[in-house]
Amino acid sequence: MPESFTKSMARNIYIGGSVFFILFFLGLTYHTEKVLPERDNRVNINEQVALGKHIWEVNNCIGCHTLLGEGAYYAPELGNVYQRRGGEFIKAWMKAMPTNAPGRRQMPNFNLDENQLDALVEFLKWTGEINTSNWPPNIEG
Ligand code: HEC
Repeated sequence: MPESFTKSMARNIYIGGSVFFILFFLGLTYHTEKVLPERDNRVNINEQVALGKHIWEVNNCIGCHTLLGEGAYYAPELGNVYQRRGGEFIKAWMKAMPTNAPGRRQMPNFNLDENQLDALVEFLKWTGEINTSNWPPNIEG
């Protein structure tokens, strides 16, 4: 055991540490790539879900809402709104806007037809079925 900390010891720690963590992160990346396809629920994407996502995008719902944490904080999280309220409530809600209730934040009416509303509900249902490790942490989003 040498008495002092030598240059070669420092180099070995540097190289050994680097190799260890590079392998470690490669392993994590491999693991993520492996589990993501099962977790992201992509097998259940169908025409309705895709149409619902399109409606979600062109109407800029994310400009006020978050979806699984992404978006604006003006209005409630909608990643789990299907579990929270159900499809019928969501459709009725969309039709009832704006509430004009004094003191409450308002949401516009997007004048969606029945077919578009069904697709939107399918999209929100699909979103709620993504395995997010139970995020958001409570049903209110
Ligand atoms: C201008 C901002 C704004 C936009 C854009 C918007 N919303 Fe909202 N939304 C709100 C607000 C504010 C509330 C809560 C109102 C309240 O509680 O009185 C809300 C509530 C909701 C709720 C009920 C949530 C719950 O937990 O009960 C749903 C469902 C919803 N929005 C869907 C949508 C969808 C779908 C879109 C896009 C088509 C959209 N919103 C676009 C402002 C917005």
